[in-house]
Amino acid sequence: MRRAVCPGSFDPITNGHLDIIERASQLYDVVHVAVLINKNKSGLFSVDERIALIEEVCEQYGNVQVESHHGLLVDFCRDRGIPAIVKGLRAVSDFDYELQMAQMNRGLTGVETLFVPTSPTYSFLSSTLVKEVASYGGDVSHLIPPAVHQRLIDRLAERAAG
Ligand code: PNS
Repeated sequence: MRRAVCPGSFDPITNGHLDIIERASQLYDVVHVAVLINKNKSGLFSVDERIALIEEVCEQYGNVQVESHHGLLVDFCRDRGIPAIVKGLRAVSDFDYELQMAQMNRGLTGVETLFVPTSPTYSFLSSTLVKEVASYGGDVSHLIPPAVHQRLIDRLAERAAG
């Protein structure tokens, strides 16, 4: 089985993430989506909620497994026999940090990182911007899957109410 991992925070998953996961799912037998837990960031969605949303929107691909992980990405890969990390590159601004992480990860355990150029449609897209625009009432329905959009609107309304 050829395996790869698509890691991230996914708070929440966007169409940009989905584009990369879909393309990875066509290249590999199994794609693991790893929701990395960051103790210093409290998300809009809990890790379990993020996983449930990713599972829902990735069900269509048939070869995507979703899990959370607390710790180093290289340990997630080693424990599951995953030799490759697949990452989307949106713009040159992503490159410096992504290159550093790729080189660090390869130095740690030998895991490779493959960069996929994001679709130009989503080159400006991030979960952070989606949340900010939606929180001020902007339309983000074309940037996230419909199931995610509904949950985002509901969650922002809950936050605003309470
Ligand atoms: O969606 P994000 O927040 O841009 O994803 C970044 C992520 C989670 C992929 C990155 O921070 C990561 O790999 N974190 C896991 C901890 C780790 O392995 N750190 C060392 C990286 S060299």
